[in-house]
Amino acid sequence: MAGFPEVMDKLVSLCKRRGFIFQSSEIYGGTGSVWDYGPLGVELKKNIKDRWWNAMVRSRDDIEGLDAAILMHPRTWEASGHVAGFTDPLVDCKQCKARFRADKMDPKKLEANVCPNCGNKGTLTEPRLFNLMFKTFMGALEESSSVVYLRPETAQGIFVNFLNVQQSARQKVPFGIAQIGKAFRNEITPGNFIFRTREFEQMEMQFFVEPGTDMEWFEQWKALRMQWHLDLGLSPERLEFHQHTDTELAHYARAAFDVTFDFGGTLGHQEIEGVHNRGDFDLSQHQQYSGKKLEYFDQVNNKRYVPYVIETSVGADRVTLAALVNAYREETVEGESEGRVVLGLKPSIAPIKAAIFPLTKKDGQPEMARKIVDDLRGAFPVDYDETGSIGKRYRRQDEVGTPFCITVDGQSTGDQTVTVRNRDSLAQDRVDVSQLKGYLAGKLVD
Ligand code: GAP
Repeated sequence: MAGFPEVMDKLVSLCKRRGFIFQSSEIYGGTGSVWDYGPLGVELKKNIKDRWWNAMVRSRDDIEGLDAAILMHPRTWEASGHVAGFTDPLVDCKQCKARFRADKMDPKKLEANVCPNCGNKGTLTEPRLFNLMFKTFMGALEESSSVVYLRPETAQGIFVNFLNVQQSARQKVPFGIAQIGKAFRNEITPGNFIFRTREFEQMEMQFFVEPGTDMEWFEQWKALRMQWHLDLGLSPERLEFHQHTDTELAHYARAAFDVTFDFGGTLGHQEIEGVHNRGDFDLSQHQQYSGKKLEYFDQVNNKRYVPYVIETSVGADRVTLAALVNAYREETVEGESEGRVVLGLKPSIAPIKAAIFPLTKKDGQPEMARKIVDDLRGAFPVDYDETGSIGKRYRRQDEVGTPFCITVDGQSTGDQTVTVRNRDSLAQDRVDVSQLKGYLAGKLVD
């Protein structure tokens, strides 16, 4: 496994060159830690989000979907604790103007007041608390009464809709609500490509349970979420659980585990998902701040209670980065001087499922290849390529993770068969054109 900085640099350049991810507003010099997904990136991330939605919502009858608005009533963030407590302690160097998070600094350097950037002594300010929420104004007046926030997590949209969903969908506790959506944090120390950004997408699910059954559900969700990452194709040896200690626990959490992924190199194991037991913190806070009851009525046992919540929260961008890092490999090819770069993504999340090449630009091969493209396009994203040598065309597809390359050759126009090359094994099967769609479909579910 190549070191992280090396792989990351290569991935950043591959992602830009091949249209996965671009820096936001690049022509203006870029926006700090904000990224745009290009034609292949949007497919990859969408496939990952679809896998999550299918696992969490479509394949279960005890979880409902939701798409809540980004802008919420400002009281939401007072109730949730974000106005008072969603802060990082900031330290500035008066000399070199570098900015650090005090909680992430080497305590010895902080104590000795030595700047980790320029090395000067006595130039660091006292830590100041900095709120991570982006503020904006609603309506025509820029005054304090019209301040609203861009949500720093999607979860609160779920909490405030707890009864709307439970009653409209006629769900009984235990049940969950899931959503995928944008979140915004004015991170002080963003970086590492799409690992920590200021605008990102979360895939969150809140599971409402009867108090007392919460730790059982917590264990179940921990196991299910770890399995989801394994099913996505992340290597088991790169995945771990990290239990939050008392000092690490967020203000709302009774217990928390992170699923961590080993990005390699200096970044190492980092959180990609959090599984939290939030107790009744959020619903109780919203009850108090809104004055509206958020209780569940258990008709069987004739009792009312505020449910506890088990939360699973994963970053769509961060898990996309984990999938890219996990998939990237460089290989030598027997009998060839040039090696190849492969994105060994699972076929189900690969942005392009098959590429179709005519071996030559004559003898009716391009026409036959185009016809195959038209036929497959309705079923999967496919690509057509007739430029360059066949070897070059294979390399182009390998580095974006296309699992199958179909070649129309001299034999094809006669007997209506094509070769299908497998990205990983390099094995080539000869397949009848009439069987192609079924052949591929069987290999794209994983
Ligand atoms: N509702 C709980 C919550 O938001 P979190 O641990 O702050 O918990 C959950 O965030 C997940 O969201 C993280 O595991 C990470 O995958 C993603 N995430 C958080 N901040 C992010 C950022 N600045 N950039 C990209 N992803 C981020």
